[in-house]
Amino acid sequence: MKRIGVFTSGGDAPGMNAAIRAVVRAGIFYNKEIIGIYRGYEGMIEGDFVPMEVRSVSNILQRGGTILKSARSKEFLTAEGRTKAYEQLKKHNIDGLICIGGDGSFTGLHNLYKEHNIPCVCIPGTIDNDIPGTDYTIGYDTATNTAVNAIDKIRDTALSHNRLFFIEVMGRDSGYIAINSGIAGGAVAVIIPEEETSIDELIEKLNATGTQNKTSSLVIVAEGGKSGSAMEIAQRVKEKFSYFDTKVTILGHLQRGGTPTYFDRVLASKMGVAAIEGLDAGQTDVMVGIVHQQVIFNKFEEIMSQPKDIRKDDLRIAKILSI
Ligand code: F6P
Repeated sequence: MKRIGVFTSGGDAPGMNAAIRAVVRAGIFYNKEIIGIYRGYEGMIEGDFVPMEVRSVSNILQRGGTILKSARSKEFLTAEGRTKAYEQLKKHNIDGLICIGGDGSFTGLHNLYKEHNIPCVCIPGTIDNDIPGTDYTIGYDTATNTAVNAIDKIRDTALSHNRLFFIEVMGRDSGYIAINSGIAGGAVAVIIPEEETSIDELIEKLNATGTQNKTSSLVIVAEGGKSGSAMEIAQRVKEKFSYFDTKVTILGHLQRGGTPTYFDRVLASKMGVAAIEGLDAGQTDVMVGIVHQQVIFNKFEEIMSQPKDIRKDDLRIAKILSI
């Protein structure tokens, strides 16, 4: 394998730049040519390619976002779109691919591999941490730290006014950011997509803790939960609970940006090197993972057949400590 294409796909995540840098530098270290593909699968279909040099990735290690830009391509969801993308790869003599993205991006890569047999490796990059086969995905640590910083600030104002805040964090189908920012931020309750939450039970808990001299309460809500958005839940609680004045804060895309933490930079660097070494050693249709500090390569089918489960023990700890 001589020419490897690298791209970022789906929602950006802090640390993606560190992963691009690692892929480019490890690729050059092993005498490969590395081609950057702009705007994920969209750019692949259009042939938006640029050769990457050692210095193309200088000074990006510490930057959020992705220098290659990202997209969620509708056309690539079709077999015709994927054929167009493959034709572009052939035209530019690209004989291997490294994708940095979430489960949707990995699914796209798997389809391209099945239909056109191009060797490929995925690096898990998403703030959601919702992919089996790795302890952490790139961006999750930074996003959770961002959420915790925001929660701490909200706590200051909540305490000053004796208020109840509902704070909505990201994670469409995943409660990771919510649970762990809830533990770190001392939330009274965490509402996640993986679990049904009874609003009556929540009110009971708020009443119980409120009457025990609690001077502020924070509830963390993951977006996309079965019980509704933070705004909707707050409205329902407000109707029956008046002990505290109630406010809502939605953290939104703030969690996607910013300087990656040391943890995400190191994770991305290790995974970038592993992707090049794996591809060179014949790994294909796999996702790099780091489990108990060991690099592993997970086959697409293995990953996708596993349930996207939260770590139940984290939730248990959040509950024990929120009395
Ligand atoms: O998958 C990452 C993520 O940030 C989710 O947490 C969130 O639901 C989604 O992307 C938002 O996507 P977009 O930026 O396209 O609105």
